[in-house]
Amino acid sequence: QREHEAATRVKNINKIVLGKWEINTWYFSPFPKDYADCDTLYFCEFDLHFVKSHAALERYLRRNDVAHPPGDEIYRCANISVFEIDGAVCKTYCQNLCLLAKLFLDHKTLYYDVDPFLFYVMTECDDHGCHPVAYFSKEKRSAEEYNLACILTLPPYQRKGYGRFLIAFSYELSRKEGKVGTPERPLSDLGMVSYRSYWSYVLLSILQSHRGAISIKQLSEMSAIKMDDIVSTLHALSLIKYWKGQHMISVSPRIIQEHLSAETSRNALQVDASKLQWIPHH
Ligand code: ACO
Repeated sequence: QREHEAATRVKNINKIVLGKWEINTWYFSPFPKDYADCDTLYFCEFDLHFVKSHAALERYLRRNDVAHPPGDEIYRCANISVFEIDGAVCKTYCQNLCLLAKLFLDHKTLYYDVDPFLFYVMTECDDHGCHPVAYFSKEKRSAEEYNLACILTLPPYQRKGYGRFLIAFSYELSRKEGKVGTPERPLSDLGMVSYRSYWSYVLLSILQSHRGAISIKQLSEMSAIKMDDIVSTLHALSLIKYWKGQHMISVSPRIIQEHLSAETSRNALQVDASKLQWIPHH
């Protein structure tokens, strides 16, 4: 109940400064009392330490020479890296990341109890360091087959394919674990369109290259997408027919081509699985 009240309370912090960006916030976030009524919060983009003034940030940055997130760099391809950060090990960083993320998420998220989670922070790297652009969190153990708890692309980086990249990344981790996965519910509207678009693309790509009959279960094994999500995606694409008492996947090459042609022209950022240095946590 308290968390729900916190999530729906009016917006408090109006802007954040993060690296080269000044970003207008979208929602309330429960920053500690001393910071709760600041118009602008100033973050060190690398360790997510936050202060109340530009001068304080300058002072802080002069003393601090880290230039990337904490944790292990588990993926690097060209200028894109992903760092894995354990909530139980880098508690303050992960709590600060959750507080920052809540500024752009309207539904309930975790803020302080970060120990049971891993955090995957995507960065763009240049001569000045690895700058955070997006992240997702994931429960270390999930009874509900969740492979992603919360995802955010920082507003200046949205609509560039980074959310899609991290969604694909979360399924790549599931594949390595030999599991299927699904995002934690509820999904925001933006979360829903992003997932729908990813699921459609992956399923249609498999159907395009597959010869002969294929079952939902096989699609799930090949994609690591949970069967329920496959059924709802195929329904939304009108590719499931009910025939003689059974659900059938019914799809023509023309329909696949229609759906996929927009995708392929976009030249989206792909996850290169060979660049992922990671073994599952048990
Ligand atoms: N309007 C319409 N469609 C959109 C929009 C939008 N504003 N944003 C994303 N999409 C769809 C599109 O289909 C897009 O593909 P296309 O634009 O190339 O056609 C697809 O989603 C993926 O787009 P990306 O560029 O990869 O996604 P982005 O980096 O912008 O990240 C995300 C998507 C993470 C949902 C971002 O919008 C965000 O951070 N939103 C705020 C936080 C949030 O709502 N997170 C999800 C909560 S649910 C959960 O965490 C389980």
